[in-house]
Amino acid sequence: MFDLQPSSMDTFQPALGPKLEIGIERTAEPEHGLASLTRRLMDDGAVQFLFGMRDQFPDAHLKDLVAQSMDGERRIRFGDRTVINFGSDSFLGLDQDPRVQDAIAAGVKKWGAHNGSSRAFCSVQANVDAEARLARWLGVEDTLIFPSVTLANVGLIPAVAGGHDLLIVDRLAHNSIHEGAKIAKSEGCKLKKMSPCTAEALSAMLAKEERKSSMVALDGVYSMSGASPPLVELDRIARANGGILYIDDAHGTGIFGPHGRGMAARELGRLDNVLMVGSLSKAFSCMGAFVTCTTELKLVLKMKSNSYIFGGPVPPPYLEAICVVCDILNSPEYEQITERLNLRIRRLVAGLDRLNLTMFGREAPIVAVLVRDEETTLRAGKWLFDSGFYVQSVLFPAVGFNQGVLRIQVNANHTLEAIDGLLNALADLRRDIRLPEAA
Ligand SMILES: Cc1ncc(COP(=O)(O)O)c(C=O)c1O
Repeated sequence: MFDLQPSSMDTFQPALGPKLEIGIERTAEPEHGLASLTRRLMDDGAVQFLFGMRDQFPDAHLKDLVAQSMDGERRIRFGDRTVINFGSDSFLGLDQDPRVQDAIAAGVKKWGAHNGSSRAFCSVQANVDAEARLARWLGVEDTLIFPSVTLANVGLIPAVAGGHDLLIVDRLAHNSIHEGAKIAKSEGCKLKKMSPCTAEALSAMLAKEERKSSMVALDGVYSMSGASPPLVELDRIARANGGILYIDDAHGTGIFGPHGRGMAARELGRLDNVLMVGSLSKAFSCMGAFVTCTTELKLVLKMKSNSYIFGGPVPPPYLEAICVVCDILNSPEYEQITERLNLRIRRLVAGLDRLNLTMFGREAPIVAVLVRDEETTLRAGKWLFDSGFYVQSVLFPAVGFNQGVLRIQVNANHTLEAIDGLLNALADLRRDIRLPEAA
């Protein structure tokens, strides 16, 4: 099957012909300092490619949009253009929920805007409360909060994959897992990339390895496609070989499993034998990330995660809001919210099926429609934008070269008219722009 294999910026050499002259005027004077640094960086193949996209398709690029306002029905205003926002991770619409907003406002009154201290020195009570509340919601012994999933991954992976360990990373995993893995490798652990991410591939890799202690790092829900790896089989194989899964469930948090405990919880039932990182910035509409752990392990993680020790914390007002969101997820209201969301996902997917488009993911609130080449992907995104719908045109390096997709993010607060309107716009778009049909 065609998959959305992300590409590496490090090795990319686009066939763009002569080098582009981008942005900066050359002067007769020899360049020093920042100008010369910029020039050197612009010689890089991936930078050339990205600037090339911007310069060749300035009207369709849409990567530097600035929003002036957003509202509860997911309208977003860019200058004099208001469109429906299908590009937000706040899938449950809680960013617009007065209870969440009030908790943040009350938190500002209580704590100020930011306490400005690394937690290696001092935590606020709101942090301790939020970690306990998250643990109760998830049914685990403890959790540890980080300011973002990126910082969790780059801090935790080197902390838990030690010098004598084998670290296997799903090739499709989020960039921040790969960044964390690079640090772990630089500190001595053996790094292997797995593609495809299947039970067979994992078994084969482990069979060849002598290192005893292994960790398999992967996403619970792929951010660019909404699809998921086979967690149950991978967990079984990892554990049978004395290893453990490290699951970045950023897009599963709040969406899947009982009370939104995530894709890992839905698939594995319990979270006692995995390290699961969840997002507090996506469906939660607050800020930060957490990792599930035991209280004993938490002590070690705090001592070993550099991003925890050397970075600042989630601002206390957002920590207060995390507790409010946990209450919502634990309440009967959560079912009503997910019913609304799932109805909209199903309606979108059924419509895309009727259009016979190639899509990835059918269950998550991220649905990606394949376009393929970069120019057409940008043009398709611009076409929808001009028709009143903002979706993200995703290009290299987030997906492979010539594997561009329209990434549609569904929200519980989208009106049904918005979903139908987007489908109608896609039907019209197809008359102008060829999109690959479903096989
Ligand atoms: C799987 C995954 N991990 C990590 C991140 C980064 O999350 P954060 O913005 O909290 O750093 C994303 C962002 O979309 C993601 O999809």
